[in-house]
Amino acid sequence: MTTSRRENTDLQHARHTAVVGLQWGDEGKGKIVDLLTAEHDVIVRYNGGANAGHSVVVGGQKYAVHLIPAGILHPDKTCVIANGVVVDPAKLIEEIDNLRNRGVEVGDNLRVSDRAHVVMPYHKEHDAALENALSQGIAGSDTDLSIGTTKRGIGPAYADKVHRSTAIRMGELLDADQLRAKLRVICAIRQKELESLGVKAPPLNPDALATQYAALGRRLAPHIVDTAYLLHDYLRDGSRILFEGANACLLDIDHGTYPYVTSSNCSTLGIPAGTGVPGKHIERVLGIMKAYSTRVGAGPFPTEQLNDVGNRIRERGHEYGTTTGRPRRCGWLDLVAVRYSAMICGATSIACMLLDVLSGFDELKVCTHYRLPDGRVSDRFIPDAVRLTGAQPVYHTLPGWSEEIDELHDRSALPANARKYLQFIEQALGIPVEIVSVGPERTQTLVEV
Ligand code: IMP
Repeated sequence: MTTSRRENTDLQHARHTAVVGLQWGDEGKGKIVDLLTAEHDVIVRYNGGANAGHSVVVGGQKYAVHLIPAGILHPDKTCVIANGVVVDPAKLIEEIDNLRNRGVEVGDNLRVSDRAHVVMPYHKEHDAALENALSQGIAGSDTDLSIGTTKRGIGPAYADKVHRSTAIRMGELLDADQLRAKLRVICAIRQKELESLGVKAPPLNPDALATQYAALGRRLAPHIVDTAYLLHDYLRDGSRILFEGANACLLDIDHGTYPYVTSSNCSTLGIPAGTGVPGKHIERVLGIMKAYSTRVGAGPFPTEQLNDVGNRIRERGHEYGTTTGRPRRCGWLDLVAVRYSAMICGATSIACMLLDVLSGFDELKVCTHYRLPDGRVSDRFIPDAVRLTGAQPVYHTLPGWSEEIDELHDRSALPANARKYLQFIEQALGIPVEIVSVGPERTQTLVEV
């Protein structure tokens, strides 16, 4: 069923909103969250960790945040890091200090779940060691099973969450004695695991680690609360909540291109478990997509362009990672993938980002179907890396436009072919493109009125 423009205007007044990436990340969610923050009181991160990176440009100043919701740039809002997030406390403190040094207030406006899991240094070591071992081939095999992770310890931290006994949650940083006792056991196990992966670093020192992490806990203590109750208090008092997805739907552990995914539910399906807020409260889901596709790390990418097209997109779009600085893989827009993500996330409208990057192409290709190895043509996405690798994109070609569009303020002023491109997206997805972004600044945003 298609959401009409009138229904969509009603949705713009919905009380609670989710913002979620519909591709493989880096769609520009930070900018949209920052824009929507004005209409909300509370901004909540529900998944992922310091593997995500949002860059927001405000007043010519660029801010990069990894753990703290970009909404922190508005001092009258509350930002919540909910239980579904894995928190690297040292990184979080670094981020708080950096923001404060630039005059951004971070105090009672930042709340961190006592049940969010802690990313420890051995998680990062394990992440890097496993990736190295896998990429170099193990047990005489030349099969490379590495994922190309951000090496931020995300997978091992979520693995500990599921193991339970070896996990540490933010609230546990506040009890130094208990932390020390627990780390003595955990480090003994981790040491053996790291050695089995060929790590030759100095042995883990649980007492030093406990002292260090208890100190980090003391610094973060004023922020640590039960965020599920906090959010339900906000729901009751009529506050408007914005749920900010990190990473993106195609990296979702259950619904993405497994195993080339991250370790959390980054789709909107992660919101209830990751915050304690039932999904029924979220009426409006803004799906964020780029006007083309990018991906970092390994994994299938049907519309990837390993040629001048890809290079041109990378350079015009400054497609280098916020978190790792890695050049991103670039390609044409894959509407099979975006339609799937919009379905999984329940998107009610779309923000189409970086449309300005496509200026100057004679023609633009958009993937509408996949040709499968048996010759069948399908409009269904394949959320499995092995099977997706066999899919060939079937393209629809649209005429390009030569004009630069980054200084436009009105959607109707877009070149006719740019408007046709957006209409094509709307028709293929069956939901309206509510926001069009033509540059990093808040002012470079064309909103349908
Ligand atoms: P991990 O999350 O560090 O374990 O990495 C798993 C995969 O997800 C890798 O391919 C990463 O490059 C990718 N990934 C994780 N977070 C993001 C993101 O925010 N943007 C883009 N790719 C990401």
